[in-house]
Amino acid sequence: MCGIIGYVGPRPVASLLVDGLHRLEYRGYDSAGIAVLNSSGLVIERAVGRVADLETGVRTAGIEGTTGIGHTRWATHGAPTEANAHPHIDCGGTIAVVHNGIIENADELREALAGRGHTFRSETDTEVLTHLIEQLYDGSLMDAVAATLHQVDGAYGIAVVSSMEPGTIIAARNGSPLLIGLGEGENFVASDASALLDHTRTVVYLDDGEIAQVRADSYQITDLRAVEVEKLATTLEWDLATIGRGGYAHFMLKEIMEQPESIRNTIRGRLLEDQGTARLNGLNLTDEELLRYDRVVLTACGTSWHAALIGEYMMEELARIPVEVEYASEFRYRSPVVDESTLVIGISQSGETADTLAALREAKQRGARTVGIVNVVGSSIAREVDSGIYTHAGPEIGVASTKAFTSQVTALAMLTLRLGRLRALSVLQGREIVQAIRRLPGQAAMVLDGAGRVAKLAETFMRQQNALYLGRGYNFPVALEGALKLKEISYVHAEGYPAAEMKHGPIALIDENMPVVFIAPRDHVYQKIVSNVQEVKARRGQVLAIITEGEDRILGLADHFITIPETLDFLTPVLSVLPLQLFAYYVAVNRGCDVDRPRNLAKSVTVE
Ligand code: AGP
Repeated sequence: MCGIIGYVGPRPVASLLVDGLHRLEYRGYDSAGIAVLNSSGLVIERAVGRVADLETGVRTAGIEGTTGIGHTRWATHGAPTEANAHPHIDCGGTIAVVHNGIIENADELREALAGRGHTFRSETDTEVLTHLIEQLYDGSLMDAVAATLHQVDGAYGIAVVSSMEPGTIIAARNGSPLLIGLGEGENFVASDASALLDHTRTVVYLDDGEIAQVRADSYQITDLRAVEVEKLATTLEWDLATIGRGGYAHFMLKEIMEQPESIRNTIRGRLLEDQGTARLNGLNLTDEELLRYDRVVLTACGTSWHAALIGEYMMEELARIPVEVEYASEFRYRSPVVDESTLVIGISQSGETADTLAALREAKQRGARTVGIVNVVGSSIAREVDSGIYTHAGPEIGVASTKAFTSQVTALAMLTLRLGRLRALSVLQGREIVQAIRRLPGQAAMVLDGAGRVAKLAETFMRQQNALYLGRGYNFPVALEGALKLKEISYVHAEGYPAAEMKHGPIALIDENMPVVFIAPRDHVYQKIVSNVQEVKARRGQVLAIITEGEDRILGLADHFITIPETLDFLTPVLSVLPLQLFAYYVAVNRGCDVDRPRNLAKSVTVE
């Protein structure tokens, strides 16, 4: 997500902000900028691309001043352009804002402000804040920001400066982290402790609903009703590298643990419970237009291809539309039959995978409507498809894809809901699905709370050289994904199979040395998979089973088990994959592998 840094004190602020932004680069971003207060008022410098590009601009501009804010942007609304980069300013050019999060009612606020004569310069939701603060300013910047935030729905971490109040930074938090750094005759604001470590280890964390006025020698924190809040300062213990990973040992673990939040961000503002459907504005397709497509092709690579397989099962079962899943690398060269009545959906975390991009170009060439389910805003696939659904999972730094996968499956579930309600699903069925999707972030948190148990289990498996992952129905692709996670970061040879396929060959591999992971939540094929577990046990295989809490038919059979909460069949992959991600992670750590940078692999395969 985005990074925020602010400073107020006696030192030249421009270079200090840029240094802080360098510390935030690990978070992933596509543009950056600073706003500085000085005798000439408010000076803004922004750049698309790397912080180094911004640094050149700042040095050339020779910006003076000792109060300022800076930002690295991870685009959510509006492509990565200089106009969309933060900070954003108001009409009068006297107020600058940097923001991390998503303003859900930005469109309505923008319309109202434009109606009052405000001119907008960007496509971002953030710019709404600058004009609303300007509209509400009545002598106190803190009051104007508080009044603005009363009108805002959504998540934010913001910092605000104004030439009307030099030497002051207003900071506020609701859902996106923000902290105050306390120095000697100087103070800081940041979204992440790593930006402060060069200057101070004494910090005050803001909590949701709090707003702070920060000056060089003082700070005041209140709630949005101006009621003073007493906060204790804490001392940062972590080293810089560890802070950069949010305190986790690896980015992969950080991203696994972020999934309640990333799934929440994927869902945010998109579920319509009354109508029992999903609002996917990026699709740019009316109901009538959507009904014109009589076939769907899902194309992707790797983990994204596993998400596509789940999407196929969902859409055929619930939307009753024929779906095919294609490896992008195969689709692009096999002269596929697609035309203007085919919806070709490319799924890609990076939005830069060469095979997936080429497959979509091929589909477009043949007249199909192309859609992208992509995480990186403004990426090549996102720019080239006819329309899309951003997954909003936030930057995924670890090479092994984790939170991107669960966000892809969640996005596919919402697309299936939208399509299903046009075809086969009643409003009551739709409402049940909306409620089940809404429960996923909390249920994911419950599964991840059991990470310590998975770590223990991984110790018993760490010396194995092979493993089989078996699943049925919606959890057959999860078996493939669990096997891919294990092999790509621990280099153990793991294979995923449909559980029933075992008797057609792989069962020859089963003996007391072959660990078999069953993904066996309570779903419509559960009884069948219980029989498969019995077949493995009859051949002395070691069984680790992922089961629904309260289920006991497999308990007596499995050697080890991990439980997940109950949900609708087609949503089980979002939860059943979590223990498998953790299992692969801990086995790889136990085996001393480079978890975030596994050998031979790249985060984004931009070559054939
Ligand atoms: C998944 O853990 C791998 N890193 C890899 O299979 C990845 O999913 C694949 O390369 C597709 O990447 P994309 O989603 O960015 O297109």
